[in-house]
Amino acid sequence: MLQPMPSVNGELLAVSSEDWIARDREVVSPAIYRYTEIAFARGEGVFLYDFEGRRYYDMAAGIATMNVGHCHPRVVNAIADQARTLIHAAAHVGYMAPYVEMAETLRSLLPPSLDRGKALLVNSGSEAVESAIKLARAVTGRSMVLAFIDGFHGRPMGALAATGSSSGYRRHLAGLLTGVEHVPYPNCGRCAFGHGPRTPDQCCGQWRNFIQLTLDKLVHPDDLAAILVEPIAGEGGYLIPPDDFLPTLRAICDRTGALLIADEVQTGLGRTGKWFAVEHSGVVPDIVAMGKAIGGGLPLGAIVARAELMDQWWPGAHGSTFGGNPVACRAGLETIAIIREEGLMDNAVRVGRRLMQHFQAARAHLPIIGDVRGRGLMVAVDLVDEGGQPLATDRLKQVIKLLGKRGVVVTKCGPSALRLAPALILTEAQADEVATLILDALAELS
Ligand SMILES: Cc1ncc(COP(=O)(O)O)c(C=O)c1O
Repeated sequence: MLQPMPSVNGELLAVSSEDWIARDREVVSPAIYRYTEIAFARGEGVFLYDFEGRRYYDMAAGIATMNVGHCHPRVVNAIADQARTLIHAAAHVGYMAPYVEMAETLRSLLPPSLDRGKALLVNSGSEAVESAIKLARAVTGRSMVLAFIDGFHGRPMGALAATGSSSGYRRHLAGLLTGVEHVPYPNCGRCAFGHGPRTPDQCCGQWRNFIQLTLDKLVHPDDLAAILVEPIAGEGGYLIPPDDFLPTLRAICDRTGALLIADEVQTGLGRTGKWFAVEHSGVVPDIVAMGKAIGGGLPLGAIVARAELMDQWWPGAHGSTFGGNPVACRAGLETIAIIREEGLMDNAVRVGRRLMQHFQAARAHLPIIGDVRGRGLMVAVDLVDEGGQPLATDRLKQVIKLLGKRGVVVTKCGPSALRLAPALILTEAQADEVATLILDALAELS
């Protein structure tokens, strides 16, 4: 279905994708990198459509935000209902029912102790991370944060100080938030300690020694406010850490009195087959940062922390004008209800496994496929060049542009991997079809 032609005073403005892209280039900052040259007119389920009505499998899902697919009728109705009732009043001014319900619901999804925790709602994942750091510093009275090389926590100046997935994000930006020290995330495919490609169960464990070294030489344990970690490194390459990783971080926090902050912005809300990815490890963090899917496609971020931590924050310590906007909360609440009622976490596990099987099987005849890894519907297909080396990022970006032309929207993670993070409603038949589209394109390139 084509969109109605946009006009001002009856004069047609732009009617084609090409026109929209040309107008965009005129007025929008070039700072935004575009993975594809597609202008999106509308979305439905796992598909996006351009202004010519061409259909695309959306394997980006708004960068892992549209967990129940585009324009789910229940989410659309929830948004419309709330928009008719109260669009915004601001939490600083008084109390808003959707804010309360969102806080109640988010904590109810978390493991014991956090399920009695308290929430604070913001507008984005980065803001959630910065809020978590603020809370950790405020309640511990300590200043230092341990974060990870290969970790991603956002681009605003505070969150960026913790982001360690690419120096490109920091270029010309010296003078970020101080007090963040980085240690290597266990990246067993590209071990920082030179141990060659391995699987997480064969991990050399040197990351553990590096943390200890950091605590011995750089960050006194008495100054450590928090360890900030993604349970699976997202932007850094969908890196699944070894099983003892999160338990070890928990133990270090318990020993030093630091707080464990889990950044579940990308891994959260069912994508890995659990509400939150920490559940796979049994580790309970002190603070969880959330974003992306929790707003059902509208801007919403959150932190949930143990109540005794949150209760040490004094009125006025934190907040934001739009944080916990009622329309975003309603969209998120409906999204959570749909994930639960439609069994989408089980679907993510089933369909994610099938998607990975397609790429694993194709490795035998497609040498461009290096590693295939993931959990649930977080799937990375790492590509290699003719010499078996990681595909150069520029070439990966060309592959992604080509896939766009073949009707598949994807992004990247890590320097050389295709990132497949579709809506959790993707069916097995759709997984088969989209895998074929991607594999056909890769075969052509091989
Ligand atoms: C793990 C993680 N944390 C934080 C962020 C930042 O979220 P936002 O872009 O909503 O600020 C992202 C975004 O990709 C993310 O993946």
